[in-house]
Amino acid sequence: MSQSDILCKTLGERVSVRVFPSQMVASIVVARRIAELIRAKQAAGMPAVLGLATGNTPIQVYAELVRMHREEGLSFANVVTFNLDEYYPMPASSALSYVSFMRKHLFDHVDIPQEQIHIPDGTLDEEAILGYCRDYDQKIEDFGGLDFQLLGIGLTGHIGFNEPGSTPDTVTRLVTLADLTRRDAIDTFGGLAHVPEKAITMGMRSILQAREIVLMAWSPKKAEIVKKALEGEISAEVPATFLQLCPQVEFILDRGAASLLSEYV
Ligand code: F6R
Repeated sequence: MSQSDILCKTLGERVSVRVFPSQMVASIVVARRIAELIRAKQAAGMPAVLGLATGNTPIQVYAELVRMHREEGLSFANVVTFNLDEYYPMPASSALSYVSFMRKHLFDHVDIPQEQIHIPDGTLDEEAILGYCRDYDQKIEDFGGLDFQLLGIGLTGHIGFNEPGSTPDTVTRLVTLADLTRRDAIDTFGGLAHVPEKAITMGMRSILQAREIVLMAWSPKKAEIVKKALEGEISAEVPATFLQLCPQVEFILDRGAASLLSEYV
């Protein structure tokens, strides 16, 4: 990959946006950035605290990280992870759980110690959720907050499962998924009736406080919501618009996802 492969354009004053010719090239760039962070923290004898996403968007980032582990000796021994979300209820053993997703795409293939992995627990009794969510946020704080947060974006403008109505001060909690979000998952679950109605999501607060945030989006399917997130009025109606207020955010897009941006040529 040469510099000329990268179409690079910074849109607006606040949020950096980079547009790449393909999601493959973009994913490699993001994976390298994560690897650099992990290595820098290793050199300093510190943990690298990563907030991680599931879904289609980050799959190639994880594939590249696994390749770097296998072929370049990138170690995950100092990596601590906090996943954004899990469906509720959801047994970890289900092939559709985000636990299974993370094992399949990353954790089973790298040397991260099991006890350094955190994924919201979809098996809790309802009365245990509140305390569990408080502990989840407390653990993030105990590690000094997230060094890096990887995000996708949902068609509703959700980040994590912070659906419309989520304000920047929201904490980790049980949420009801938006209708559009459930419909988007129909193929995965084999019918709307099988898509869970709820999820446990990390709150906006921990996400927005991360020291680096990368939001990735691929394909024209995401173009409209990416435009709203970057150019729309900042409002809880599109939670991703709060990223406009965060100077540490970078949007990494392919051409399709960037195609409706007014400053993209
Ligand atoms: C997943 C998550 C969600 C997804 C979003 C996009 O952990 O938090 O916000 O990032 O729904 O999903 P995909 O990547 O499948 O389009």
